[in-house]
Amino acid sequence: MAQVILESVGKIYPGNVRAVEGVNVNIANGEFIVLVGPSGCGKSTTLRMVAGLEEITEGTIKIGERVVNNVVPKDRDIAMVFQNYALYPHMTVYKNMAFALKLRRFPKAEIDKRVQEAARILDITHLLERKPKALSGGQRQRVAVGRAIVREPSCFLFDEPLSNLDAKLRVTTRAELKRLHQRLKTTTIYVTHDQEEAMTLGDRIVVMKDGFIQQQDTPLKTYNHPVNRFVASFIGMPPMNMFDGTLKREGDRLIFEEGQLVNAQKVKQRADEPEVYTGEVRTAGSGFKLPMRRELEQRLAGYVGKHVVLGIRPEHFHLRPVAADSVGIPVKVNVVEPLGNDMDLYIDTPLHPHKIVRIEAEPELGSGSQLTLHVDPMRVHLFEPGVTGKNISLPQ
Ligand SMILES: Nc1ncnc2c1ncn2[C@@H]1O[C@H](COP(=O)(O)OP(=O)(O)OP(=O)(O)O)[C@@H](O)[C@H]1O
Ligand SMILES: [Mg+2]
Repeated sequence: MAQVILESVGKIYPGNVRAVEGVNVNIANGEFIVLVGPSGCGKSTTLRMVAGLEEITEGTIKIGERVVNNVVPKDRDIAMVFQNYALYPHMTVYKNMAFALKLRRFPKAEIDKRVQEAARILDITHLLERKPKALSGGQRQRVAVGRAIVREPSCFLFDEPLSNLDAKLRVTTRAELKRLHQRLKTTTIYVTHDQEEAMTLGDRIVVMKDGFIQQQDTPLKTYNHPVNRFVASFIGMPPMNMFDGTLKREGDRLIFEEGQLVNAQKVKQRADEPEVYTGEVRTAGSGFKLPMRRELEQRLAGYVGKHVVLGIRPEHFHLRPVAADSVGIPVKVNVVEPLGNDMDLYIDTPLHPHKIVRIEAEPELGSGSQLTLHVDPMRVHLFEPGVTGKNISLPQ
């Protein structure tokens, strides 16, 4: 087992394509780190540089105490599992798993011991004599993991290993991978574009966008204290609702007043990134108002009169007041989606259509209802406008 350290790592592909820049990550021995972000943000490139499959343009990568920049993949003591499992079709499961050890001239008895042990852990002992084409997707995936385990590497690298599985199998296999890690405690770097997978698997998650790290924290810290608007929108499903508006002083309180964007323009982003519009904000007095918590007043003083963006997660709206100073927002319900225990409401606030709210199921509510929803001022966020607008409401 080993720690893995990335220092100022960058990658420029031929043709001057900048894929990754200034990546600093310290992965502790035994830690499970997830790189997450939208398509093209540089996750696979980063992982492949650790694996040695891609040359490192800038910076240093260390595995254990050793700088590996110029070490060939097979000498890096890592094992990688890809999205397409790339099993050898003509070999049995046993031989697939034994292959790398055989190449390294391990004694037969040792190979057998490791293969049997890995098969037992992964519950594929009964499949050892089958060939890959006689396996289900989930079973193939376990064989691919088995092939990595038998090598007892100091680090596992996974690149979207579950994305070929159907939704249900993804969830169960995800839990298996987590159990496996708790058992083997091998340092792991795991790449996914699925924020839920990142949240459930990672000891820490590293959120990337356009080749840069936006935030690296525990899943809960990332969810509760996103450093910017991008992280706030990317982590959490349904995504955080964003409201353009202005910060104003009213009496002795700073309040957010909902406003409307004029000359609104959609910021060009990749298809799987949250939509962002820019423009100038106008308040006409018809928007909702929300007082900011007092401990933020000093910090926010410089933003009075300026365009800011209020963020409220769907699950932080409630039908009844939730705090002494909880605030009501008048909304119109367009669509109701029952989820069993909970329900999603697609709502319009006075100035923002198409927002989404998740509350406990309430049979009375139907589309067309007008109601007042309550939010706890402690749980809202305030951002600077822009795609990666800074979170100006973080505790300091
Ligand atoms: N061999 C290559 N040559 C040139 N550009 C590349 C090459 N491989 C990747 N890129 C570019 O580098 C950027 C990062 O790609 P990368 O594959 O690391 O993204 P990713 O985060 O893994 O995305 P996905 O979720 O789609 O797998 C992209 O803009 C991609 O087009
Ligand atoms: Mg990728």
